[in-house]
Amino acid sequence: MSKEEELSKINEEIAKCTRCRLSLYRTKPVPGEGNPYAKVMFIGEAPGRFEDLQGRPFVGAAGKLLTELLNGIGLSREEVFITNVVKCRPPNNRDPREDEIKLCSSFLERQIEIIDPDVIVTLGRHSTRYILGRAGYKVDSIMRVRGREFEISLKGRRRKVLPMLHPAAALYNPRLKNLLEEDFRKLRKMLSKSSRRTLDQYF
Ligand code: URA
Repeated sequence: MSKEEELSKINEEIAKCTRCRLSLYRTKPVPGEGNPYAKVMFIGEAPGRFEDLQGRPFVGAAGKLLTELLNGIGLSREEVFITNVVKCRPPNNRDPREDEIKLCSSFLERQIEIIDPDVIVTLGRHSTRYILGRAGYKVDSIMRVRGREFEISLKGRRRKVLPMLHPAAALYNPRLKNLLEEDFRKLRKMLSKSSRRTLDQYF
């Protein structure tokens, strides 16, 4: 099966999923979207109102900022893959609960394996806690880990992880927006190193 086929199979499973209570509230599930061959994968928290209506991740105000930050380092949304830890909108945009994240996690884990990105960017505390937690890190504050490069083992593969603040937190706070811009510059550096390594394979 091609990556495209494997990803659409996951999307179909998500559309039918009733593993947790969030399925009761959804208008559309939001499995994620982007390039199946992406070098960088962004993992947010959960769909909000607009995402739930459109079935697409990060299409509201936080999504607009995410798109701007991507463009600022020369990337387009189409080049990357964007998803969330939970694929259905929590009622009234409450935080996703531990059991919901756990029940949804196999979809995310399979997406990571299929896309096989050079860098995983976790946006906000929920996805950061989940991904770094998989490697035994206990994250109590996103501020302590944001902008730092982690290398962890996920299902036997080494993975680079760069935690960042959630774009929604930076929307109305210029200080946090500066930090997020700094983290995107760090991402650009990490990606340029990873493409150099690919070139090295030829010489
Ligand atoms: N916030 C998220 O974490 N994910 C989305 O898809 C939209 C807003």
